[in-house]
Amino acid sequence: MDLIIEKLTDNFGVQINGFDCSKPLQAKDLMIFKKAMQDSHFICFKNQKLDGNSLAQFTKNFGDLEVYPEKDKTKGKLEIFNVSNVSEDGEHLSPNDQRVILQKNNSRWHTDSSYRYYPALFSILYGVETLPADAIGGQTEFSNMLVAYENLSEEKKILLDPLHQVHSYNDIRRLEPGLPELTYNEKSNFPPVTHPVIRVHPDRNYKKSLYFTSNTSLEIGGMSLEDGKKLHAWLVDYIADKRFCYKHSWEKNDLIMWDNRVLLHRVIPYDYAKYRRAMIRGTVEGKVPVLGPFSNEVRTQV
Ligand SMILES: [Fe+2]
Repeated sequence: MDLIIEKLTDNFGVQINGFDCSKPLQAKDLMIFKKAMQDSHFICFKNQKLDGNSLAQFTKNFGDLEVYPEKDKTKGKLEIFNVSNVSEDGEHLSPNDQRVILQKNNSRWHTDSSYRYYPALFSILYGVETLPADAIGGQTEFSNMLVAYENLSEEKKILLDPLHQVHSYNDIRRLEPGLPELTYNEKSNFPPVTHPVIRVHPDRNYKKSLYFTSNTSLEIGGMSLEDGKKLHAWLVDYIADKRFCYKHSWEKNDLIMWDNRVLLHRVIPYDYAKYRRAMIRGTVEGKVPVLGPFSNEVRTQV
């Protein structure tokens, strides 16, 4: 059966119908998907039938799997992250359960694994249990940082060019104090890192995009605390502009994948006590650091 590829928005995103991601991937299909990721940054495959093993197999086609840093009882495999308010045994967890609090943090704009020196390349998320169509919230929203950068004023581009943000896995606790303390080893494996707020893309002719999160810190560095908070709040508001965004309304068995170098995402909050939402995620490990306008590799090229 031929692949049917439909555009989702003018800016980014495609939907692919007529493909079974649980089967071994042919080289020609892998090429089509990689090109779609490069050009459109987001793919939704409809009507999939996957489990943790087949999701891990599919994810491995695009690179090595990232291993989640914490021991977490909601998952069976270290490479498969449960984005879920349902335990591995099928129990609907309380909104105050620490595993659910971590999910709530996902409602802040972010890009996956920004707390690593080599942040995640692609995330691949499968909807096992999704909210009913008439429920409020539960969608995953994406914002295109290449387009957001292009639309900045020259004044803002100049302001942001040299700045950086601290991304700290431990600092998720600062935003969500209900989470348990990390162990010494967990903290030591993931010390804070900084990334430039303007990201340069060598594989896109050194084009620039925004790169920041609001799930690990709420400040931009390189300025006073007060100014850094103000600028961060401005960025959060700016990138939520509908011109840059696509909101994915989940149907059960959707498989979506996105490029973490280009898109920020967030889950739209929903009634955690009323609805079950269970998803599993495979993550393709990044192999390169985030380059900013002043990194040596960029300065010698442009
Ligand atoms: Fe995420």
